[in-house]
Amino acid sequence: MTEEQIGIAGTGYYLPEKVLTNADLEKMVDTSDEWILERTGIRERRIIAPGETVSSMAEAASRQAIESAGLAPEDIDLIILGTFTPDNPLPAAACLLQHRLGNKTAASFDISAACCGFIYALEMGEKMLRAGRYRNALIVAAEAISVVTDWQDRNTCVLFGDGAGAAVLTRGGGHRILDSFIRSDGEYSTLLIVEAGGSACPITPEIIEQRRQYIRMEGNKVFKLAVSSMVRASKEVLKRAGLTIDDVTWLLPHQANLRIMKAVARGLRLPEEQVYINVDRYGNMSGATVPIGLAEMDHNGVLKPGDLLLLVAFGGGLTWAASLVRW
Ligand code: ACO
Repeated sequence: MTEEQIGIAGTGYYLPEKVLTNADLEKMVDTSDEWILERTGIRERRIIAPGETVSSMAEAASRQAIESAGLAPEDIDLIILGTFTPDNPLPAAACLLQHRLGNKTAASFDISAACCGFIYALEMGEKMLRAGRYRNALIVAAEAISVVTDWQDRNTCVLFGDGAGAAVLTRGGGHRILDSFIRSDGEYSTLLIVEAGGSACPITPEIIEQRRQYIRMEGNKVFKLAVSSMVRASKEVLKRAGLTIDDVTWLLPHQANLRIMKAVARGLRLPEEQVYINVDRYGNMSGATVPIGLAEMDHNGVLKPGDLLLLVAFGGGLTWAASLVRW
């Protein structure tokens, strides 16, 4: 491994046009705008249109990221896509994305780390570039959670949204990735699960009738683990980099729930004004929330040279992860 700088050279994002508001959800399940806003901070979310897929959203986000890096699709030699809602179980959505981009030079694969997909992919991309074999990595997280959402289950359907975010990593330039920390614990795998559709539970008419093809979550347990593991991951990555919370300019957490993000800020003793929030507009888009937030901060001029950005996420697996980027 070299000490060469590996950095973020460009960012991009895509959100479907269709907006689903809390008022729309009031007509679908027994819920209220007031409950959703108070318990989650979410006002509205985006939902894919017929024909839109993870790879189509990923393409739009990736084209923006590649262009903002001043590169062309053929300059990319590594594509890592985090998703748990790929277009198909086979092939990898990353290969479909590669084809959509007209790229013939990259190695492309998906990773499954739920809401941590982007930070896991960032860690992998950074280390693979650092090893010297690849030059420009396209790191993407895209999720069409609406297709695995049970629209009759008020416990989950109010929480999620669809979208895609991307970043181009390059050697010798960009905004420096200082370090990352990624972890998992499969003991908690059933707390957040799409049970059917894999080898353990193939989809049959009976399974469909039992609605086991949809996402299920034990919200309360997940809530507590989300807070403690994101605080832990943040502290760990700061320690690794020889920094403290006082050095952090911005915290960009996974946007699952406003109350979770506020609790993480409290746990880290970081003022809430330093936490970037967009959950009100998009809901929880799993792995896509962090890169969409990153691209918004980048494109809207929120990030200034020298800022220290702490990315942190938590999700199904369970997985948790954090990265530090010097802007
Ligand atoms: N509208 C109205 N009432 C509701 C709704 C709704 N949409 N959903 C649940 N309720 C009810 C429940 O039925 C319950 O009623 P009861 O007391 O009569 O049984 C009551 O509200 C309270 O339910 P809780 O689950 O205790 O509510 P809580 O305050 O925990 O909020 C929530 C629920 C928002 C799901 C929260 O637990 C949460 O955000 N959990 C974490 C989710 C998360 O972080 N996921 C991240 C990973 S996502 C991924 O990896 C893809």
